[in-house]
Amino acid sequence: MMGIGLYGLLIWVLSVLCSICVSLEFDPVDNYLIDCGSPKNTRVGDRVFVADNFTSNILSTLHDVSVNTISKSNLSTFDSSLFQTARILTGTSQYTFSIKKHGWHWVRLYFFPFADEKYNLSNAKFSVSAQNFTLLRDFQPENGSVVKEYSLNITSNSLVLTFVASANSFAFLNALEVFNLPDELIPSGGKIIDPPGGNQNLLTRALETVARVNMGNSTVSPQNDTLWRHWVSDETHLIPSILVAFVSNVGAVNYTGVPTQNIAPPEVYGTATRLNLDKRADNIANVTWFFDVDPGFEYLVRFHFCDIVNSSDTKLEPFNVYMNSQLVASDLDLSNLTSNIFGVPYYKDVVTGLSTSQLINISVGPSELESSLPDGILNGLEIMKISNSRDSLDAVDPHIQLSTSSSKMKVWVILGLAIGVLFIALILTLIVFLLCRRRRRLVHVGHSTQDNFAMNGGGNAQTTESKYSNGTSMISSSKIGYRFSLAVIQEATNNFSESYVVGVGGFGKVYKGVLRDETKVAVKRGVSQSRQGLAEFRTEIEMLSQFRHRHLLSLVGYCDEQNEMIIVYEYMENGTLKNHLYGSNLPSLSWRQRLEISIGSARGLHYLHTGSAKAIIHRDVKSANILLDENLMAKVADFGLSKTGPEIDETHVSTAVKGSFGYLDPEYLIRQQLTEKSDVYSFGVVLLEIICGRPVIDPSLTREMVNLVEWAMKWQKRGELEKIVDPHLVGKVKLESLRKFGETVEKCLAERGADRPTMGDVLWSLESALQLQGDDGRPPLNGELSNNHLETSVSTTQFSVGSMGDLAGVSMNRVFSQMVKAEMR
Ligand SMILES: *[C@@H]1O[C@H](CO)[C@@H](O)[C@H](O)[C@H]1NC(C)=O
Ligand SMILES: *[C@@H]1O[C@H](CO)[C@@H](O)[C@H](O)[C@H]1NC(C)=O
Repeated sequence: MMGIGLYGLLIWVLSVLCSICVSLEFDPVDNYLIDCGSPKNTRVGDRVFVADNFTSNILSTLHDVSVNTISKSNLSTFDSSLFQTARILTGTSQYTFSIKKHGWHWVRLYFFPFADEKYNLSNAKFSVSAQNFTLLRDFQPENGSVVKEYSLNITSNSLVLTFVASANSFAFLNALEVFNLPDELIPSGGKIIDPPGGNQNLLTRALETVARVNMGNSTVSPQNDTLWRHWVSDETHLIPSILVAFVSNVGAVNYTGVPTQNIAPPEVYGTATRLNLDKRADNIANVTWFFDVDPGFEYLVRFHFCDIVNSSDTKLEPFNVYMNSQLVASDLDLSNLTSNIFGVPYYKDVVTGLSTSQLINISVGPSELESSLPDGILNGLEIMKISNSRDSLDAVDPHIQLSTSSSKMKVWVILGLAIGVLFIALILTLIVFLLCRRRRRLVHVGHSTQDNFAMNGGGNAQTTESKYSNGTSMISSSKIGYRFSLAVIQEATNNFSESYVVGVGGFGKVYKGVLRDETKVAVKRGVSQSRQGLAEFRTEIEMLSQFRHRHLLSLVGYCDEQNEMIIVYEYMENGTLKNHLYGSNLPSLSWRQRLEISIGSARGLHYLHTGSAKAIIHRDVKSANILLDENLMAKVADFGLSKTGPEIDETHVSTAVKGSFGYLDPEYLIRQQLTEKSDVYSFGVVLLEIICGRPVIDPSLTREMVNLVEWAMKWQKRGELEKIVDPHLVGKVKLESLRKFGETVEKCLAERGADRPTMGDVLWSLESALQLQGDDGRPPLNGELSNNHLETSVSTTQFSVGSMGDLAGVSMNRVFSQMVKAEMR
């Protein structure tokens, strides 16, 4: 009896000891975890986020701060307790953390824009900086929650986080983490791959995590990571292929030193995506992943490898690793690198050149060694954006550092400064823009075949898959698209009830729909079964699934059951711009609202034109295709006629004339040559509708007034555009602002496409028209003078809310290639 008791005790002691040595949890010296706006502490896994009223000594108020607490308890679909409350910060607010350990720290910011009785957090707009780095500039959180992670190398005794609300808006925060990192985690520098040879010093930079991916089609939750990282599954980034296999062998991972568990946990090293060897005899290809990034930055990319397959009879062969088609490692032999010990992790850091594209593509594939069989494996990947030379991580940062004391200056000083800075910024951006353009051209000449993957599927054509993926983009892999069943659509629209119709067009009807979880959607149901209808249906899904931008209407899903051609979009509460301009009883839009709508739509179009290697031409820009959400934010819609722009060495696309009467570019009508400038022309017409508040063609008017373009241009050329503005605007538009607007329209409507400005230039002019309209209580410095290509951000942890949750993980390109396949049969 006694013996057994002692024996039991011994086992117990041993197991306790064991669990102590196994639990290698990192214990940070600096460790601030705050659940903002929460009245009580919140436990998440093994950590406690404190209520922020206990840490109020950290939040020092500079000036004009009102601190309100709001809470939202009925977030039932949302499982994370940290997102239930938020703190509103107005004016300028600072968090100051005392730092005991110098070196790299993570700052994680949690945002979830919900609404309660008093505040709608999705109206927030603000900037965040840490020390001297700009983390976010005029940030507007999108629907759904997001956690942003920044790495900062702190060399002083405090870390200061500053939140500045944008004009007439406010900032908010749901939760916050600040803690120091294990020394081994972030390197002091990284080897630059393209152009090869250089080395990037990271110690003076800040980093933002833009992707953290676990290969092998499985996610790893923060609870299974010593640094509470969330690793998303690679499946949505991967080009689908039968040549890809997911492998898993977590038990095989064997840490022998560096890398430690802090570099990546066993759940990451223990799963991998591998080139599928079964087919290797006749199919040789790479495994390729795509990641969205903001152009204009360098990125630190960390590759995690671990041979977890070697024990079986399928020995891992040496393989090549590529980033943006450049060699990162050739004939990588893991067993050599890990002294032939099975299961030992290995990682490699490289730095990209200044990215000119919105994508980073990563491939592993066969080495050229004659002796080795085709193979390739990747276990994990992290991509971190490196702050630019202006110490900013924000893609839309207009490089104006707003002085926090400026509000105390006299207004004319601000005005003078604004105009000065604006002028300099204008010239600088113009130069940068011209340089970039040149560079872009050069790049294309150099690698034209590899670089235009944006529209041609993978540049690394995979022998069997390429004919399916051709024409489909692999860009949007992480985005949402979903195939609805007809039954669900019927339920949402009350079986296509007439009372649900919100619009009618050549294609058929648009219905308002309400999904089971009460998400509102717009359902467009095509009637024509013609080939052309089908082609447009497909073009539209293809276009929408490639692009996600704040000013482009988003795709929710589609339905092609029983020969239906149904596209489901996000619902736009305020309908078309056209309806707000004339022919309805809606309240008239103010000049500022009209300018903001013009700017928003210009952004959307600018993104279409420049957002990928090959421009997308919308072809049907009109006020009826610009939609307004509940905040009157503009989104460009209806991509049914869109076309990809000219090939690099051509200047136009020849095509049959399509589009809407009254908006058509005369040059396109005559020559049938399509360029981005055709959209610029149509947009000029929309701008005229916006300022005059009347239809493009109005047969009820006198002959000289019937055609808006002819009539308005007559007045504009006389310099008297103010005589024909919408009566609602009379006396409310500043003359300088109107002049600027008029000039912009005139340029857009130039007879020859070559004489018209680009959409980027138009955006600039409209921004300055807004600046010239000036105060309305807002400082004029607030312009986002940017050509922000990508307003969507890739986040470390992206949770989704409501119905979107059901849609996540279905990659649109896959959906689309299925459709193409069906068509090919
Ligand atoms: C951690 O990973 C293991 C498998 O490797 C899994 O069984 C466990 O549920 C995970 N724990 C959490 C909290 O995700
Ligand atoms: C893999 O990708 C690289 C870089 O794009 C390319 O040079 C190589 O030919 C590809 N290999 C195969 C087998 O497709």
